Amino acid sequence: KTPQVVVIGSLNMDLVVEADRPPQMGETVQGNQVHFIPGGKGANQAVASARLGAKTAMLGAVGGDAFGGELLSALKQEGIDMEAVKTLADIHTGIASIVLSQGDNQIIFVAGANGQVTPADIDLFEQKIAQADVVLLQLEIPLETVVYAAAKAKELGKTVVLNPAPARVLPDELLRNVDVLIPNESELYLLAQTGADAKLEEAMTALLQKGVGTVVTTLGSKGAAYLTAQGESGSVPCHRVTVVDTTGAGDSFNAGFSYALASGAAVGDAVAFATKVAALAVTKLGAQAGMPTLAQVEEFTAE
Ligand code: RIB
Ligand code: NA
Repeated sequence: KTPQVVVIGSLNMDLVVEADRPPQMGETVQGNQVHFIPGGKGANQAVASARLGAKTAMLGAVGGDAFGGELLSALKQEGIDMEAVKTLADIHTGIASIVLSQGDNQIIFVAGANGQVTPADIDLFEQKIAQADVVLLQLEIPLETVVYAAAKAKELGKTVVLNPAPARVLPDELLRNVDVLIPNESELYLLAQTGADAKLEEAMTALLQKGVGTVVTTLGSKGAAYLTAQGESGSVPCHRVTVVDTTGAGDSFNAGFSYALASGAAVGDAVAFATKVAALAVTKLGAQAGMPTLAQVEEFTAE
């Protein structure tokens, strides 16, 4: 059976400026190029999920401006069900201002319409959640809505995956409803509140104690590590690729993991799969361009 994923989250237009280096505060540097490309953690994860072959629906909001229309049509072209993405006339589409230099980035995100995704929208599109195997969430929509969506998904017996980005402290009420939490290292330590000297495993254990089912920590060039409430643990190294743009690397990992989980994979195998998806994603400019198809992931031979 085709795995089904519903992504509840943000859609942004990414204003990507390429420069040799980012400016210091108060400084102007000459950039080399500018790109307007579809992004947003939610949309990126939806695109990756759809390319892998999951039946993918998105729930969110765009503004009534030209960017909103562009994002809707870009995601529809990927075969994503966009019925649950509303267009709001009186507010701008989410924007991410991104400085890309040496393959790395700095991002300022302005929520716009993403800030208007409400618990009422979750109720309105409950059917989309009911159809999914995995419900995939991030933190670029209001926290109240994320909390509500996770509770609703649990109530419907769904697997809840949360990518806690951008980083912020989260209520236990939310963490209890999260089956799989996928932070990066800085998000992990912020969430676990174990202090600066804590080890990776201590921080992950602290989150399991708050009720999370499984923690998968992405470690950038060091790969990923996981720990489950059943005491299973492991780590997967990162694959060597030529990095062009790390924007969306986390998104590709989260979608890859969710796709694998929805397909019935065990946690360790889902982490290994997600690591390959992320390796491919960073080889192209833009958050969505490098999201691989299932065939590309299967062809990818790890170094
Ligand atoms: O995770 C990457 C995404 O985060 C970008 O596409 C940008 O929209 C930011 O919000
Ligand atoms: Na990319």
